[in-house]
Amino acid sequence: MKTLSVCFVCLGNICRSPIAEGVMLEHVRRAGLAERIVVDSAGTGDWHVGDAPDARAIAAAARRGYDLTELAARQVTAGDFKRFDLILAMDHKNLADLQRSCPPADAHKLALLMQFASRHQVRVVDDPYFGGVEGFERVMDHCEDACAGVLAELQARLAEA
Ligand code: 4NP
Repeated sequence: MKTLSVCFVCLGNICRSPIAEGVMLEHVRRAGLAERIVVDSAGTGDWHVGDAPDARAIAAAARRGYDLTELAARQVTAGDFKRFDLILAMDHKNLADLQRSCPPADAHKLALLMQFASRHQVRVVDDPYFGGVEGFERVMDHCEDACAGVLAELQARLAEA
């Protein structure tokens, strides 16, 4: 059985990408595709490796029914470029950092998460770390929109097989 995988990438892997992972996991579970779509997240930086998601991210996700409490931060590894079918960055800096270390053969896997959004005409998911609760709500809005598009893309790829 064909399986596909997606990894969401931000800077610290404690705010934006764990939210995207939690939202995507729920979309995948509701679509009955938990056995066929692997979901993960990682950070380009190493400051928070091993940490749980930021308490504000856990709270914002919980308000919409997503559980982030089992997640732990990790840094992007060279193996991720081979392992994942889609590697989706939250902002231009994250994408540029990924492009610098990605082998050319895997460069087609890299994109901005918000390219998959349909309701929000923005290119990036802004870093909410130094702001307030409203920044985390905006991350939730953006991730819910874009993850629906990511799911549609992966479903189309599964249907091709
Ligand atoms: P994230 O947010 O990249 O969405 O996880 C940040 C987390 C930590 C820091 C910056 C952004 N930091 O500077 O420690």
